[in-house]
Amino acid sequence: MILFGHAAFQYLNAACELGLFELLAEKGPLTSKDIRTALDLEERAGDILLLGCAALGLVHRDGPTCRLSAEITDLMERDEWTHVVNTVAFEQYVVYESQRDFTDSLRHNTNVGLRRVPGDGTGLYRRLSQNPHMEEVFYRYMRSWSQLANAHLVRHLDLSGARTLLDCGGGDAVNATALAQANPHLRVTVLEIPESVPLAEEAIRAAGLQGRVTVRAADILEDPFPTGFDCVLFAHQLVIWTPEENTALLRKAHTALAPGGRVAVFNSMSDDTGDGPLIAALDSVYFASLPAEGGMIYPWSRHEASMRAAGFTELRRIPLPTWTPHGILTGTRAA
Ligand SMILES: C[S@@+](CC[C@H](N)C(=O)[O-])C[C@H]1O[C@@H](n2cnc3c(N)ncnc32)[C@H](O)[C@@H]1O
Repeated sequence: MILFGHAAFQYLNAACELGLFELLAEKGPLTSKDIRTALDLEERAGDILLLGCAALGLVHRDGPTCRLSAEITDLMERDEWTHVVNTVAFEQYVVYESQRDFTDSLRHNTNVGLRRVPGDGTGLYRRLSQNPHMEEVFYRYMRSWSQLANAHLVRHLDLSGARTLLDCGGGDAVNATALAQANPHLRVTVLEIPESVPLAEEAIRAAGLQGRVTVRAADILEDPFPTGFDCVLFAHQLVIWTPEENTALLRKAHTALAPGGRVAVFNSMSDDTGDGPLIAALDSVYFASLPAEGGMIYPWSRHEASMRAAGFTELRRIPLPTWTPHGILTGTRAA
């Protein structure tokens, strides 16, 4: 499976793009001939697709008919399948090519794979707006990846006593709007690079939260943070940067907080034992190869060390019961 992992992924991607799974969910079980006709494939092409999808357990063949696997059926019933499809597109159109530079990225300890994304800018994010298809695929995925776990963020991050929250590198405001919806008294400021501000503003308008959720153009690495907040959130942010940059960002968060305020780090976490979980390990290839100079799915203890160095106390780990390796880490600025 490891040797041919790239081919396994291409079966999954092709089946997603061709609509095989939705077809079987809606009309299955179906014969291979019915499937070929519905997907407009020649006999040999249909045979290849079904051979791979059946061998990988994505579909099951019972004599002449094919049906959807229980795992995909389950993801569809839990309304998570669209999030998986969006993640597959991200892997195919944003991640896949740059991973060819993984070895060199390790050798040089930097994101060599960025050379495969046309445009100016030292990181992936500033190049996205110069590659509209990649940008659309990226933010569709990012929204999905957040939504796979942010109901837990809403549940665990008690903001009942908070009036203001700063969301650093908040993307299209997917977490800012979820937190604002759940906490009607809360006002949220999203910091984003200028190129991504319109995406966030559009999502805030669509959620009807103008006025309560606002976006400010800022470079979180270079610019000072606004101050006086009750909570500072880093969602899928401290996986991008080096440990030194993370400590510097957390110091800025400490200054941005009112005394007694809290910082929350919400992203995938790896185990302190350095041997998993598997998705954290596999996702780290992307963070090593593409978005910025340094980053990975860090172990909990690495974030905790950065938090302590930045002055936070009362650190609290909240592992989440999701198939993604998401977790939340909170810390407090002493009152
Ligand atoms: C991995 S995405 C996470 C988005 C969002 N927080 C979420 O969880 O869905 C990282 C985001 O950080 C933003 N970003 C990257 N570098 C930044 C910088 N220097 N200043 C501000 N935002 C930045 C990117 O534009 C992108 O939207």
